[in-house]
Amino acid sequence: MRRDPYRFVARWYDKIFGPMNRGLRLLGLRMFRPREGMSILDVGCGTGAHLELYQRYRCHMYGIDPSPAMIKVARERLGDRAEFHLGDASDMPYENRSFDLVICMLALHEMNPPTRSAVIGEMKRVLKRTGRILLIDFHPAPVRPFKSWLARLGVLFSEIAAGREHFRNYRHFMRIQGLPALITEHALVVEKQKVVGGGALALFLLSASHPCEGSAKACW
Ligand SMILES: C[S@@+](CC[C@H](N)C(=O)[O-])C[C@H]1O[C@@H](n2cnc3c(N)ncnc32)[C@H](O)[C@@H]1O
Repeated sequence: MRRDPYRFVARWYDKIFGPMNRGLRLLGLRMFRPREGMSILDVGCGTGAHLELYQRYRCHMYGIDPSPAMIKVARERLGDRAEFHLGDASDMPYENRSFDLVICMLALHEMNPPTRSAVIGEMKRVLKRTGRILLIDFHPAPVRPFKSWLARLGVLFSEIAAGREHFRNYRHFMRIQGLPALITEHALVVEKQKVVGGGALALFLLSASHPCEGSAKACW
């Protein structure tokens, strides 16, 4: 079995990346304000910090992540206020068309290309017809000097530190032009977008014209 790449980092993850990530999460919340009773799924939910921000909206919250260490922190953080599933999002245990919002933040860049594709297919499958997908990840746009060079350099160091496979997947993600390329490939429709961090990060709020297209599981 594959070793958990987050086994040593999970406990420290929010202490290291919390401040930067919180700013991104708040921008995402501004792009899609949930209503009470909505169902929200966080794909690659990590420590559950993103879902924690949504709990004030009294939504039904779900998170999926293959890292036992990250899921453990998430469960400790949210208890029974969210339902966490330990597993790979390329094969999710949820019914077709069950979520109003599917979030995926800083996870797609670290997946290998076939997994990334399958995960996006699954996100479309479990999205309600009226639902939205919120993607937040690194962005390949030319960065503005000097602050953004520092941001890109910081990203580069953390990606190298995350290990060879992680870095290889990150480089592939950047080479194919990141989220805009994946959005086109999967026929997702851009509702809102925002590029931040001097061009180093981007947020996309998307709808899916054909929620079940590209999914391995049959739609009903
Ligand atoms: C950089 S962390 C980000 C965590 C969280 N989204 C956040 O914003 O704090 C990336 C997460 O993606 C998860 N991940 C990687 N591959 C995955 C996959 N195939 N399915 C679901 N999650 C995955 C990792 O385990 C990790 O928890």
